[in-house]
Amino acid sequence: MTIIVYNSKTGSSEKYAHLISERTGLDCYSVKDEYPRDEDIVFIGWLRRYTIVGMSKIDVSKVKAACAVGCDNVDFFNRKEVESCNGYSAETFYLRGWIVPEKLNFIERFILKMVSKKILREAGEHADMTLIDAMTKGGDFFDEAFIDPVVEFLKG
Ligand SMILES: Cc1cc2nc3c(=O)[nH]c(=O)nc-3n(C[C@H](O)[C@H](O)[C@H](O)COP(=O)(O)O)c2cc1C
Repeated sequence: MTIIVYNSKTGSSEKYAHLISERTGLDCYSVKDEYPRDEDIVFIGWLRRYTIVGMSKIDVSKVKAACAVGCDNVDFFNRKEVESCNGYSAETFYLRGWIVPEKLNFIERFILKMVSKKILREAGEHADMTLIDAMTKGGDFFDEAFIDPVVEFLKG
């Protein structure tokens, strides 16, 4: 059997986890819950640089698929770095989530502000202003369509 295990800071990874659970029939658990330890895992967690936060708490040898939930554009997702940084070997998917500054602590908001300034400095007039705004004021890139390939992989 396969189960879904998620770790979410502001809710978007949790929402994706429940949607994937609904569409596949797989049981869904928070990484903070008790979950069956002998099952294969689809891990869903928020992205911080190359880390899928919360993945270090699970047995990565059980990972059948990983979903990294981030705010950045899909094209900038570095699948290879994420796989090696988190120490698993399995299918990886990227899903875009939301940013809710009110649910972040001071340091997390500060990091996002610094990163948005760096993007602005480097990309200049080509910077994605929707993303820059989202990183400082909040924004929502959640889209259920992101889970279609995940569901296809799990049902296939
Ligand atoms: C401190 C911090 C660092 C982040 N770093 C990244 C990143 O490197 N790449 C990215 O795409 N998103 C990054 N994000 C955005 C989150 O991954 C994104 O908001 C995600 O949707 C949060 O998922 P959640 O709603 O399940 O907590 C970062 C957010 C925070 C607070």
